[in-house]
Amino acid sequence: MPTNPVLVVHGGAWAIPDDMVEAHLNGVRNAAAAGWGSLERGGSALDAVEEAIVVMEDDETFDAGRGSFLNRDGKVQLDAFIMDGATLRGGGVGCVERLRNPVRAARKILSESPHVYFVAEGAERFAAEYGIALCRNEELVIPREIERLREYQAQESKSGNDLFAPQILNDMLSHDTVGAVALDRQGNIAASTSTGGTLNKAPGRLGDSSLIGCGCYADNLSAAASTTGWGEPIMKLVLAKWAADRVESGSLPEWVAKEAMNYLKQRLDGHGGIILLDAQGRFGIAHNTPRMAWALQTMKKQEAGITAKGST
Ligand code: GLY
Repeated sequence: MPTNPVLVVHGGAWAIPDDMVEAHLNGVRNAAAAGWGSLERGGSALDAVEEAIVVMEDDETFDAGRGSFLNRDGKVQLDAFIMDGATLRGGGVGCVERLRNPVRAARKILSESPHVYFVAEGAERFAAEYGIALCRNEELVIPREIERLREYQAQESKSGNDLFAPQILNDMLSHDTVGAVALDRQGNIAASTSTGGTLNKAPGRLGDSSLIGCGCYADNLSAAASTTGWGEPIMKLVLAKWAADRVESGSLPEWVAKEAMNYLKQRLDGHGGIILLDAQGRFGIAHNTPRMAWALQTMKKQEAGITAKGST
């Protein structure tokens, strides 16, 4: 029996400033429209999450694709993952510097390769072999991010290289990673997450987003999940799989999403957000950051929000 499709996207969980709220709302709405359009045309959940992610990678508002945070060397270095809940096939890229849409390469890995991951030049070579155009890294760098990195590095040297000085963390670091989860008419779920990682990261640093079970996971028997936030605590807790396992054990995604954020905070003082969806179309959206951008589309409703902490 055909299932009613559902799509949920997020555009990052952090202290989104008032003057960036509109851009985030537009960005997640556009992403949801693209993913939903794909589902309406009969596309799979995988197609839907890929199309939603591409829209946010192309939108400079977000820390994904062009306009991402710069690493310590002033370069954009991107990670992405996509996973099919029907087959458990996954595709991921890490530390790529010449792909406008890393999720496109991740999807090619999922569909064309016996492997799950390719990183750096190997990932770019794989993408090129499958017809994905490479770009120059400079094409992914925007003036806003050059200035943000300059300010961060100036602060860093003022605070005696104390990278964890609270004022720097609070004022300058954000987590704009993007993600999508979908349920299609065949009853299959999928998830994808894409990111430029953290500001001023060391070259070669890989975040949680592209790590299976950490920033992204999908299994028809449990749930599809995408996380956002400071990657190191999320990966230590393998948070996306942690959440999916609880759904498989019978808990509702709405409750599990909130519990995942409590767990992240209590165990490692971590901050972030999660979207979670099961194969029955039940979903959860939660974050423990001041704000999170998200959008939701079902047969009955279309919603988008920049929620404040505790309101989802
Ligand atoms: N969650 C994105 C990152 O830490 O890389």
